[in-house]
Amino acid sequence: MQQIKKAVIPVAGLGTRVLPASKSIPKEMLPVVDKPVIQYVIEEAIASGIKEIILVTRSGKSSIEDHFDCHYELEAELSRKGKTAALAQVKDILPADVSISAVRQHQALGLGHAVLCAAPLIGNDDFAVLLPDMLIHAGQTNTCDLAGMVNAYETSGVGQIMVEPVPEHQVDRYGIVDCAGEHVLPGNAADIVRMVEKPKLEEAPSNLSINGRYLLPNRVLELLKTTQPGAGGEIQLTDALAAYLNEGRLQAFHMRGKTYDCGNKAGYLEANVVYGLEHPETAAAMRAFLTQLTL
Ligand code: G1P
Repeated sequence: MQQIKKAVIPVAGLGTRVLPASKSIPKEMLPVVDKPVIQYVIEEAIASGIKEIILVTRSGKSSIEDHFDCHYELEAELSRKGKTAALAQVKDILPADVSISAVRQHQALGLGHAVLCAAPLIGNDDFAVLLPDMLIHAGQTNTCDLAGMVNAYETSGVGQIMVEPVPEHQVDRYGIVDCAGEHVLPGNAADIVRMVEKPKLEEAPSNLSINGRYLLPNRVLELLKTTQPGAGGEIQLTDALAAYLNEGRLQAFHMRGKTYDCGNKAGYLEANVVYGLEHPETAAAMRAFLTQLTL
């Protein structure tokens, strides 16, 4: 069975849901506590065995690549001052055996188009897609959902799409999967029979939403080449995956943790609270502050 070693992270979006903050700073660089959102996503990929990160980016977003590059002056200065902890934080973001490369998406034609832009770097391999807005929080479960999904893929050989239930009024914000009514328990996967991008509530086959983590067969790239614009006039990854279901299997992997959508203001603030309550430097102060707030 092929292992998943490459992950595509589309970062060319305009971030219109978090304006004005994202006017000149890429939304992926907005911090959650002390790290940009994109760093959590790349750390999640690395923890799941990914070795090659492929960013699909555009002009005005080079700070993302810079963040994962070496900063000589800063490192020299921190080293000279003996600030070893801070030095480790800026130096050790990427393990030596993980690479980051970037391709450009010249037109904003949708997620499916962004993934297709990475095709020359994906080559003939099966691959992961990780959406940078979505932070996957392990919470009490203390397990990495993406690593669990990679394990399910490598055991079954079937492409995996991470899902989680959302309130019914939110189904029109997401790709929604139909597992023929099967009740998929957290940590388990079930075959998808149908998927729809941002359906109206009355047309939604379930409330299981795609939360931005995919492990996909290479064949999807071929299907993307002929995928026509769909919801919102964009070339949708969900539509290519729906086409794939005519010839192969895909499974919905029900996550154990919880997703925080940092591409919208409320989700971003929630993530800062949750991660702030866990960070050793902020946990005590945050807990005290929140307790005081809710008195
Ligand atoms: C994309 C996908 C959608 C998925 C969502 C998760 O939509 O097309 O299927 O549910 O990401 O965030 P977008 O948020 O880019 O409109």
